[in-house]
Order: sequence, then structure tokens, then C-alpha cells
Amino acid sequence: MRSRRGKPEEMSKVRPIRCARLLFFIGLLSLGLIRVVVASEPLPMETSFPFGLEPDFEIPKHNPMTAEKVLLGKRLFFDKNLSKDRSISCATCHDPAQGFSNGEALAQGVAGVIGTRNVPSIVNRLLGRTQFWDGRSETLEVQALEPLFNPNEMAMDENLLIERLRTDVIYLVLFQQAFDAEPTLDGVLQAIATFERTLLSGTTPFDKYEWNGEKMALSDSAVRGIALFRGKARCSTCHIGTNLTDEKFHNLGAGAGIGQDDPGRAAVTKESEDFGKFKTPTLRNVTRTAPYMHDGSLATLEEVIAFYDRGGRPNPNLDKEIKPLQLTDAEKADLLEFLKSLTSSVVSVSPKELEELIE
Ligand code: HEC
Ligand code: HEC
Repeated sequence: MRSRRGKPEEMSKVRPIRCARLLFFIGLLSLGLIRVVVASEPLPMETSFPFGLEPDFEIPKHNPMTAEKVLLGKRLFFDKNLSKDRSISCATCHDPAQGFSNGEALAQGVAGVIGTRNVPSIVNRLLGRTQFWDGRSETLEVQALEPLFNPNEMAMDENLLIERLRTDVIYLVLFQQAFDAEPTLDGVLQAIATFERTLLSGTTPFDKYEWNGEKMALSDSAVRGIALFRGKARCSTCHIGTNLTDEKFHNLGAGAGIGQDDPGRAAVTKESEDFGKFKTPTLRNVTRTAPYMHDGSLATLEEVIAFYDRGGRPNPNLDKEIKPLQLTDAEKADLLEFLKSLTSSVVSVSPKELEELIE
């Protein structure tokens, strides 16, 4: 892939001619007007790190967390002007009202072109080690390049993007505040990634029960579901840790055999043993992100449980941990109750608090 990263000196270059114009708008900013415009999206802001998540994460040294970058990144994330025909934003596919996914089996980009993969939720990406179902991007900064410039998604080009941002006074102010510079592609990527790192979900009924001794937080059925998840149903072999993922890649056979097999992780590693492997997703907020799996091939959580109970879908690369489970109907119901207990609202955690947690 062509490197699109700007030269470091571009980040600090401020043209004097812009400064007078900017001063006026910085005045506006101090009135809090721009903050109000950007903060009007429905999302609880500036809250503390959710209870039940282990704060085990890294933030790239070149892109520290700041409130100014979060504000800018949030505006960019919700802005349809970031797509060529101004028809979609990141939030069109990663919609806060739909668990930061879109309720569809497969994604649909600018010209209505249908992609090959299901839209994953982007909640708790701070805790993720790689991005995408096949893990082809390591950081959120690099990840954001793909949807922006993919002709089937936002179909943008770099010049048009920068031109649109540099002719928008609110962006001129927000970039000045965040980077002390005019809009650049590097700044766009850094700000979006910074905003995404603040989106976290924890403090669920499960967390209250498990880590805070609130025995009333879960039904008896959900409590039996936890035991099944960790025992007979073997789910925690892969859905482990407080974000319920091992961050590894496995072949369950989901979607396999329909004539268009997705190579999954093998496209990245070029190893045949990785064919059909996909990243273990978090199960947090899973009630809100149907349909399921990398190709959206399972419509409901009941279908997902039935799929695991059958032992996945046989194929030459099936993970050795996937085998028939012989769950009773009552056990399937208990497992479902447990999965339901992993839902909570998504909050945007204060960047200061995240920086403090890594110190
Ligand atoms: C047309 C729909 C669409 C748009 C618009 C879109 N995405 Fe995505 N996003 C997807 C799909 C589909 C995937 C999974 C693709 C894959 O794994 O190959 C994805 C994956 C991701 C991931 C990885 C999540 C994970 O669990 O690994 C992140 C982060 C992300 N998108 C952020 C963004 C940002 C930021 C934007 C805006 C710049 C954006 N997306 C725009 C559909 C979209
Ligand atoms: C061998 C590792 C492994 C085991 C064991 C496992 N999973 Fe998964 N899980 C995965 C992977 C990998 C995916 C994504 C697969 C894909 O998209 O093709 C997944 C996907 C899911 C999804 C869909 C999430 C989404 O956002 O689309 C749910 C729900 C789920 N698993 C629940 C469970 C439950 C419940 C169990 C126990 C019955 C279980 N898993 C056992 C690795 C595993």
C-alpha cells in the first residue's frame, strides 16, 4: 500500500495569513459554540474507565490522547463530507444507535456496492491488538485509511479530502486546537483514532456480578450460563479476558462452503494453515450487533449457539477446539442469558484518564 503519511514538519507549519481569520474563530470556540456543535451527537462524554475492563492497552507515542483531538475526531467520524459524494460517514456503517455496527449482514458503500464482510462494532478497540476481521491493520491510525479511500466504501481521494477540510472554518479551528496546524491527512487519521480509543463499554450486569459481588445483578439462568461458557460449552477457550477475546484467529467454518470462501487471515500471512481464520471478536454488547460472524451469515444469537452446538461447519481447516457440544435446550437458553448480560451503554472516556492509566 502507498504510504500516505505526511512529513512530520507539515504538522507544525502554520501560515500567518490564516492566523487572523483563525483568531476570530478561536474567539467563537471560547464561547463553547463549536464544542456544542460537535458534542450534540448522542454519546455520554467525559466519563471514567468502565468497571470490569482490564486497562491493558497501548497508545502510540506519536499520537497521545488529548481532548482537542477527541473533539475533532468525533466531528470527522460523523461527517458525511468525508465520503466522495457526501452520502456516508464512518457512523453510517458504525452507527452508535446500532451498537456501532449497522444491522446488515454485509457493508454497503457510496455507490450502493455491497462488500464481503459484516461491519464489526468499533467499541473497546482501545483494547484490541489488531484491526479488521483478518487483523491486517495494527493500529487505528492505519485502519482508517482503508474506508476513506476504498472505492467501494467512502471513495475519497486525498486532495479532495484536504481541500474540503481546509475550506471549512470549523475544521480550521479544530485542527488548530488539536495540532496547531492546518488540516492534513495525518491529522485526520490521528484524530479519528484518538476519538475511537475513547469508546468503551463495560460496567454490565455481568461485571457487577463477577467483580463487585452484586449477586442480584444476574438471573440464576445467566449465572448457569457463565459456568457453561467456561465449562461444557468451551467458549472461554477463545473468548477470554475482560474483553472476551484472545485476539487470535480461528477457523469455525462460518460461511464456508457457499462457493465464495473468504481466505481470512491467510490473505495477510500467505500461510495456507490460516485459510478461513478470523479474529475472535469481543462479545461485549453482542446483543446489539446482529447479524453475526465475519460475513453476517448467522442472524441471531440463538443461531450462533446452535452453530457452535453442531461443532461449527466442517472444513479442512476447522479449529481443533470446535466440536459438537451436546447442549440441552435449557443449557442453550442459559448461555443466551449470559450473553445478554454483557450489554451496557457505550461511553466516551476522558482522554486525560486514559493517559493517566498508562503512566
Ligand atoms: C461502508 C461501510 C463502512 C464505512 C463507511 C466505514 N466502515 Fe469501518 N468497517 C466496515 C467493515 C465491513 C469492516 C470490516 C472489514 C474487514 O474486516 O475486512 C470495518 C472495520 C472497521 C474497524 C476494525 C474493527 C475491528 O474490530 O477490527 C474499524 C476500527 C473501523 N472499521 C473504523 C472505521 C472508520 C474510522 C471509518 C471512517 C473513516 C469507517 N470505519 C468507515 C464498514 C465500514
Ligand atoms: C476456537 C475459538 C472459539 C471458540 C471456542 C468460541 N468462539 Fe465464538 N468466535 C470465535 C471467532 C474466531 C469468531 C469469528 C468467526 C468468524 O467470523 O468467522 C467468533 C464469533 C462469535 C460470535 C459472533 C460475534 C460477532 O460480533 O459477530 C459470537 C456471538 C460468539 N462467537 C459466541 C461464542 C460462544 C457462545 C461460544 C461457546 C459456545 C464461542 N463463541 C466459542 C472464536 C471462538
